[in-house]
Amino acid sequence: MTRNVLIIPGDGIGIEVMAEARRIVEWLNAHRGTAITLTEGEMGTEVWRRTGVPMSDETIEAAKSADAVLFGAVGGDEIIPRPIRRARGLLALRRAMGLYANLRPVKAYEALLDATSLKERVARGVDLVVLRELSSGVYFGEPRFTETLPSGKRRAVDTQVYTEEEIERIARDAFLLARTRRGQVASVEKSNVMETGRLWRDVVTALHAAEFQDVALRHVLSDNFAMQIIRDPRQFDVVVTDNLFGDLLSDASAMIAGSLGMLPSASLGTADASGRRPALYEPVHGSAPDIAGKGIANPIAAILSVAMMLRHSFGLTADAELVEKAVEAALDGGARTADLYVQGGIQPVTTAGMTKAIMEKLEALAV
Ligand code: NAD
Ligand code: IPM
Ligand code: MN
Repeated sequence: MTRNVLIIPGDGIGIEVMAEARRIVEWLNAHRGTAITLTEGEMGTEVWRRTGVPMSDETIEAAKSADAVLFGAVGGDEIIPRPIRRARGLLALRRAMGLYANLRPVKAYEALLDATSLKERVARGVDLVVLRELSSGVYFGEPRFTETLPSGKRRAVDTQVYTEEEIERIARDAFLLARTRRGQVASVEKSNVMETGRLWRDVVTALHAAEFQDVALRHVLSDNFAMQIIRDPRQFDVVVTDNLFGDLLSDASAMIAGSLGMLPSASLGTADASGRRPALYEPVHGSAPDIAGKGIANPIAAILSVAMMLRHSFGLTADAELVEKAVEAALDGGARTADLYVQGGIQPVTTAGMTKAIMEKLEALAV
């Protein structure tokens, strides 16, 4: 059995961190028999310069037929015209693959408690998942346009749209996920102001009453949630929210871990008749133009995304845990990239240096 994975490095540090993810996959193939075949797919600014589109039809087709996609990051160069980006960018790929459920786990590692922006006593032990709706909401709602008014001034319109089916689908995933964890769901919306928020709360409440009364459900208004996640993040287990709130709140939550470079993600679609679920794994961060090319990006978000792929797409739980333990052990051993707080006298490691530290722990833990 071979597992076919399309790897799309993209732009900026996406390229750098995916090179490290590849090294981890190759190690797993050599030592754990994971039988993952990596095929490279092109996407991003350089592809657009060469071909006129940032992502070809072949890449889209390859992504749809692969068992999973590993994705780095795109962006950083705003010169790609917006209509082209909209038709052939990351959002188009998510749409084409039907990826509606975006899992973004946030964990406070003991070794990084001095790197978190919170007090140690607030961050210690945090283990939560932001489940972000990924295929609808204001990212895709119509109408969206910019127009020039008779006054000569411009007006821009975006539209937040959610259907009952879309809300119920992501809410069901949240409840099912909570059953495998601590049995708690916080549903985050702005139902005091927004129509979509009102519908969101109604649908989540009804689904909970009908099928998931064993799970503890809380509704939290998004502004309050933004405060609560900083005040006391340990109160949360599974957090289900819409596309835009999920984007913002997961980046903010990254600082509980200590860096955006720590957060992996899994984006999942609907299972087909054979049970196969379309899946794309990517770090939560972007192409980080401010540090690209310097070899200092933190590869952990990318490497933990490989672990999520092993678990969610291939059921290789032991291998996923091995990778996660190796990351933790490398951090315990003092390896820090520059984005993590580095204490006086300690030299930060490079991107490759962090992977080396993780691979040494893989070797040690695998025996
Ligand atoms: P970003 O996530 O790229 O970077 C934000 C900040 O975090 C920067 O200071 C960066 O140096 C730092 N950072 C991020 N990842 C890091 C890592 N692994 N190691 C060390 N530091 C890290 O966000 P941005 O700067 O707002 O966006 C840059 C470009 O990336 C934009 O074009 C944006 O649209 C795009 N983007 C793409 C994705 C994606 O492909 N999934 C995600 C987010 C942003
Ligand atoms: C992310 C990114 C994307 C998003 C951008 C690059 C379109 O911020 O993956 O979190 O907003 O979804
Ligand atoms: Mn984002």
